[in-house]
Amino acid sequence: MSNHKVPTSSANNPAAKPWGGRFSEATDTFVERFTASVSFDQRMALEDIQGSLAHAQMLSEVGVLSDGEYRKIATGLGDIAEEIKTGTFPWSVQLEDVHMNIEARLTERIGPIGKKLHTGRSRNDQVATDIRLWLRGHIDRIAAELTRLQSGLVALAEREADTIMPGFTHLQSAQPVTFGHHLLAWNAMLTRDFERLMDCRKRLNRSPLGAAALAGTSYPINRARTAELLGFDAPSENALDAVSDRDFAIEFCAFAALLLTHLSRASEELVLWASSQFDFIDLPDRFCTGSSIMPQKKNPDVPELVRGKTGRVNGHLVALLTLMKSQPLAYNKDNQEDKEPLFDTADTALDCLRAFADMVPALQAKRSNMLKAAARGFSTATDLADYLVRKGVAFRDAHEIVGQSVSFAIEQDKDLAELSLHQLQQFSGEIGEDVFAVLTLEGSVAARSHIGGTAPVQVRKACAQARSAIALRTVPSGTGLQGQCQ
Ligand code: ARG
Repeated sequence: MSNHKVPTSSANNPAAKPWGGRFSEATDTFVERFTASVSFDQRMALEDIQGSLAHAQMLSEVGVLSDGEYRKIATGLGDIAEEIKTGTFPWSVQLEDVHMNIEARLTERIGPIGKKLHTGRSRNDQVATDIRLWLRGHIDRIAAELTRLQSGLVALAEREADTIMPGFTHLQSAQPVTFGHHLLAWNAMLTRDFERLMDCRKRLNRSPLGAAALAGTSYPINRARTAELLGFDAPSENALDAVSDRDFAIEFCAFAALLLTHLSRASEELVLWASSQFDFIDLPDRFCTGSSIMPQKKNPDVPELVRGKTGRVNGHLVALLTLMKSQPLAYNKDNQEDKEPLFDTADTALDCLRAFADMVPALQAKRSNMLKAAARGFSTATDLADYLVRKGVAFRDAHEIVGQSVSFAIEQDKDLAELSLHQLQQFSGEIGEDVFAVLTLEGSVAARSHIGGTAPVQVRKACAQARSAIALRTVPSGTGLQGQCQ
């Protein structure tokens, strides 16, 4: 007698899984919870329905489904979308994931025709499609928020084109710069982030639908049609690859890690500048919090948190890289672990951009404090060296002469511009009355007048260019699905 148990009905399989046919005992309840993803992948419910609608429409166009069957399926899916948006959808952990929950609900609502929806597809191409659609929607929202931040940043840079502050290297006073120039440095970083994001979107925008489990399907499907219906540029080129790789999610997380790294650098500067030691800026109260014990405190919590959130985003990038490493082709359940890091990365990037886009244009520059700080620390020493070079002194000799002048000024507790002509001439006979013009902060910044330089005139030009580049941007929109499950 054979030991083989043949389940005669779904009653032998109490959980009645859509894949339960070959099983003879119910899934262990812990395993059910351990393997389920519905608690988090229900965020992709509307994308799952969008993908199913396109798949069903294509199946009807190629004659695999009748028109009537397609219409019933489409109506059922539309009703389910309403249930999801209104929060009345009966999610079930026994049905494992968003895909099987929706499919089971469809059959519950429209009867056995619902079971035809899964013809010619697998959850493997379904989930690969859903994540791409979900991420594409988020990329477009992130691109819009990044653009809003950059517009505000450029406007602020223009306002502060003449504001002089110390420029730093090694966090030591180096040369005077304009605040507008500094803000445009942040903008340049963000422009590259935007380019990276668009690049990622381009590679992501291929349709895995039709790859089925791994090999394609024997039905006469039209992959170009589902790609077109879902706004993808084309079908993905290889079915094995389409269902297995998550490089697009890794690429997005790499973009986000760099974005957050850039925002963390700006955050660090905001925190420093808002301190009473620097006192360069005032952040509006609505972006700060107080201390429960020290009544005088106004803490720059928002930039501090953005700086801190960089850690989790960098962590998610490493998590996804490690998830993908050494995975054999094609789909493996490991990939279910891609969603939580990816969702959190997109949420965090969007929140941090929103915080920055609201906060940065509202900061107040304390211009006289910045100017005073720039006047300390011998920040025009390089200008004195350049002055000597123009008088015919070799740069290395000029460097030495200025070094001696600085050392003398330190002894006298004065800045270079406060030394008398006679005192300066002790170090070089080439120094004349005209030296004081180059020792001023205004003269120093105005002299650096070329592409990318700190001179106010260049900052204004760069702002105008940045503004028109932003205006020319085509931020894709309308592909994201708004809804409660976002
Ligand atoms: N919940 C699964 C995931 O997120 C869906 C794909 C399941 N496919 C499978 N062959 N078990 O990856």
